[in-house]
Amino acid sequence: MKRSIPAAAAATVLNSAYLDPEFSAAVVHWQKQHGRHALPWQQSRDAYRVWLSEIMLQQTQVTAVIPYYLRFLDSFPTVFALAAAPAEQVMAHWSGLGYYTRARNLHLCAKQVVDRYAGTFPADPALLGQLPGIGRSTAAAISAFSYGTVAAILDGNVKRVFARVFGIDGYPGSKTVEDAMWRRAQALLPARDIASYTQGLMDLGATLCTRSRPACPRCPLQTRCVALAEDRTAELPMRKPKKVLREKQAVMLVLLHEDLVLLEQRPDSGIWGGLLSLPELDGMRDLAGAHAAHVTAALPQIRQLAEQFGVVGEIAVLPEFSHVFTHFKLHIRPVQIKLAQRRSMVAEARHSWCDLQQLHQAALPAPVKSLLTDLADARPAAFHRA
Ligand code: ADE
Ligand code: SF4
Repeated sequence: MKRSIPAAAAATVLNSAYLDPEFSAAVVHWQKQHGRHALPWQQSRDAYRVWLSEIMLQQTQVTAVIPYYLRFLDSFPTVFALAAAPAEQVMAHWSGLGYYTRARNLHLCAKQVVDRYAGTFPADPALLGQLPGIGRSTAAAISAFSYGTVAAILDGNVKRVFARVFGIDGYPGSKTVEDAMWRRAQALLPARDIASYTQGLMDLGATLCTRSRPACPRCPLQTRCVALAEDRTAELPMRKPKKVLREKQAVMLVLLHEDLVLLEQRPDSGIWGGLLSLPELDGMRDLAGAHAAHVTAALPQIRQLAEQFGVVGEIAVLPEFSHVFTHFKLHIRPVQIKLAQRRSMVAEARHSWCDLQQLHQAALPAPVKSLLTDLADARPAAFHRA
């Protein structure tokens, strides 16, 4: 997702602890000798061509981009031609590249450059970054390649190089790690050769410092690379941490009398709001190990609760099962209580007796419905009078 440049980011404070002129010198020297120089968009400093290539390269590999780039330029040789083209024609030229929001933004951007800037892309990365489809890194790349502006890029490849060279722990997609990387990217910028430096960082990430099996013996940064020295190239950059699901537990009472099960209407707000469900002991609680032992200890309380509804007979603690919601995992421990006799009146209006054969009609949460239908199917003898 591309954002426009926030004012604070554009004015990133230079962190002098990160200053290191030898870093950019090594990258520039390597790019000039071993980097890529024959890519079609490298043959021109025309901002329109640079912009077009950078948008195409945002989420697509170089080899896939080349034919599209050439066909695009053939049909739309200038920003004026692109801005004036019908949307369908632009989309047709993009067809097959994927991420079609890029094509819509590309067309929008061409129109804005014609309308606001008389067809000349601005040189200031902060202004470029306000145009549709141009994020902070893309703005810097366009500006560096077209106008020689000294501005920092930070795309996925550069993040990988930085994470490894500097041994940066933490997921680079997180705000704090990304902010720290931007400060580094800013401080490492060379005073000259910005185009070679920018292309060099991209080339390093794409050709040597690849995600798997980086070619460290050929890398200009090998003598200073923390990941190589510590044999951590496989673990850096760190992957996105798995979301830790909160766990909760609920003890659900399955109160049975002959063919009937007692249901309770849930409050309108909260999980399963307004649905019918089983009565719960203490509601859903954060989990500190939902074990049968806890439930056994709570049996007197469960019995007391059940006595409101009739004469308690046999009680059985059933196996636990779980249900995953977006934000938590619920462990459900059903306790089955057979009533020898049920009270004709139910204490509260939110309780009702439901025939086990009519469950399919009840507005029940899916895991509760499957629990009850399983019970009904597994024990027909208990539920049907002869
Ligand atoms: N990826 C993004 N920009 C690039 C460029 N200018 N050359 C090669 N790969 C790139
Ligand atoms: Fe990447 Fe290896 Fe170079 Fe380090 S030495 S930056 S891991 S290619």
